[in-house]
Amino acid sequence: MGVEIKETRVSDAEFEEMKQFVYEYLAASVEKETEGGRMRWYPWHSAEYRFNHILNVVDLAEEIARGEGADVDITRVAALFHDVAKLETDQELHAEAGARVAREYLEARAEYPESFIQQVCRAIEHHSYQGDLTDLALETQCLIEADLLDKVGANGTTLMLLRMGYEARTHMEADEMVDRVLERGYDAASRVQSDTAESIAHQRLKRVKWFSEWLEDEIAGL
Ligand SMILES: [Fe+2]
Repeated sequence: MGVEIKETRVSDAEFEEMKQFVYEYLAASVEKETEGGRMRWYPWHSAEYRFNHILNVVDLAEEIARGEGADVDITRVAALFHDVAKLETDQELHAEAGARVAREYLEARAEYPESFIQQVCRAIEHHSYQGDLTDLALETQCLIEADLLDKVGANGTTLMLLRMGYEARTHMEADEMVDRVLERGYDAASRVQSDTAESIAHQRLKRVKWFSEWLEDEIAGL
């Protein structure tokens, strides 16, 4: 007996169109910006990075939603829009702003039921919640867990190593930086609640730990 897969309201073609919209929205946010804006030379402040993070979160959120029996469509659409306003709004306001962008998009495009739009927007609006994840709707929980997990593994490690370059650090500090990724990973893993997210976190942490051990084994000065 598998987990029941709920009926899809959003076709793949519609989802592809949404992706295109989100990418263009992010790119336009960077273009609109006047000089002296955020540090766009940090790769993770660019539209490309943000979009890539969003796609990672979509995949993770979908996997968690399927494993936990959440509504996959609500979860994946919320994941796709969750950071849409991130580059044009302050961190504290981006969740609410993202929910507004999603609502406007969904209301204008097709005949999505109001209850669907409401649940998508609620997940986006609550995705910065810092409390216990079990307080939230299951789809919101899947989104937050996915968002946390994207920082835990290879992606988080790569970003940290890139940052070392931007900060003119040498590779002799790599072990320290990777340990920081691990620490953050343990924090993130302690917040996730579902079995599916826990097992993804566990696997990702294990790999980062291996990487940290390899560094120490193979680089003489570490
Ligand atoms: Fe995010």
